[in-house]
Amino acid sequence: MSNKLLYIETFGCQMNVNDSERIVSLLADIGYESTTNPAVADMLLLNTCSVRGGAEEKVYNRLANLRIYKRDGKKQIIAVGGCVAQQEGEELLRRLPYVDLVVGTHNLHLLQEMVQAAELGERRSETAFIDKEQRLDLFPSIKGESRLSRFVTVMQGCDNFCSYCIVPYVRGREISRRSADILHEVRQLADDGVREVILLGQNVNSYGLKGESDVSFAKLIRQVAQIDNIERIRFTTSHPKDMSDELIDCFADVSKLSGQIHLPAQSGSDYVLGQMGRGYTRHSYLDKIAKLRSVRPEIAITGDIIVGFPGESDADFEETLSLMEAVCYIDLFSFVYSPRPGTKAASLSDDVSREAKKNRLDRLMALQRQHTGEICSRLVGSVMPVLVEGEGKLPGQVSGKADNGRIVNFAGDVSLIGSFVDVKIVKAYPNSFLGER
Ligand code: SAH
Ligand code: SF4
Ligand code: F3S
Repeated sequence: MSNKLLYIETFGCQMNVNDSERIVSLLADIGYESTTNPAVADMLLLNTCSVRGGAEEKVYNRLANLRIYKRDGKKQIIAVGGCVAQQEGEELLRRLPYVDLVVGTHNLHLLQEMVQAAELGERRSETAFIDKEQRLDLFPSIKGESRLSRFVTVMQGCDNFCSYCIVPYVRGREISRRSADILHEVRQLADDGVREVILLGQNVNSYGLKGESDVSFAKLIRQVAQIDNIERIRFTTSHPKDMSDELIDCFADVSKLSGQIHLPAQSGSDYVLGQMGRGYTRHSYLDKIAKLRSVRPEIAITGDIIVGFPGESDADFEETLSLMEAVCYIDLFSFVYSPRPGTKAASLSDDVSREAKKNRLDRLMALQRQHTGEICSRLVGSVMPVLVEGEGKLPGQVSGKADNGRIVNFAGDVSLIGSFVDVKIVKAYPNSFLGER
């Protein structure tokens, strides 16, 4: 097979990271190898995100930059996928004559034929949402080079319609994959040498709640945990309102379940949470955190916060800081609110000044740095199992992830790659640990 070269840039969340892996594997079947150099590529693909404002402009600017590689006489395919592609569709082809192909979030199964048509000069956009029956058979299962840790998609889409969020519009309705298909895929991955699976979806806690699956997410985790050679299970991302007691109980007795959970609060103010349409209160959020800690005292909690949502007062923001004090996140992703076209919140007046938003974000990030520092320095001296995934930062080091999700570098031989090793933490850095065996 001729070796054509594919250059791909990925933006946004883990769904996109996972979709990019799938794109690489789909295009490998029709003769494309990956390259990190856009200048030599036969195809350039941007896998885009539209969760915050300015995203569309960024994509247009990046495409304009990539265009320089499409020189006269060179047949180079320029493709756009992901959430901006879903949102803009044909408009991208209309506005940018050098774009050949636009593939929406439900249409990756068409990508191979679209690329083959583009090789012959066709320009095409496919962004139709497809119905549930067909989607059940199109859940990605990724082939490709073997790895120790793999995503396994368990559900797609989102029906929550949080008032600020574009995701339900660009990813479509929520659907849970059949549990038998998930378990089959995990078994295959285990046979291929995978040791850790990350169960993936926009809102994994609502897995099975819409009736397409016979089991709950908690039961699914228990079934995955039965599979030999899978030694660690993670999941992302969780919505607090659907975090059931049954799921919390898994942290008590499923030892393979990782000691880290991403549980975005978005705000600590009940007024703002109500306006966001999140479906929980500060109290019920903190109650779930307390339950998690009662069954797994050491659990590491990460989250997302939005500052400057319309109507957020100084007092509301103080509630967010106090929620952070109560939770003590090991890591926090914080964002300034940005209105997204078509969402409910876009019709509210964006009334928090730019300075106030910046000031709140700065204060929040300073508090978070303090919390990350405190938690991580407390962990110095402790011993934790690390799944060694590759070579470390420095020569003679290997690197892997601890149970709490943090990266650990330590002196060791590459023969350790693929195994779990007990490592003593000797130093905490802002984004990683230094350990020793
Ligand atoms: N499904 C995930 C979130 C996906 S979007 C969940 O519910 O946890 C990732 C994060 O982006 C959200 O948690 C939120 O904090 C942030 N976000 C989403 N829309 C936003 C907007 N309009 N402005 C600012 N941040 C936003
Ligand atoms: Fe967006 Fe809310 Fe759905 Fe998360 S749960 S993807 S924040 S609508
Ligand atoms: Fe972005 Fe789409 Fe994910 S909007 S956050 S890439 S679902």
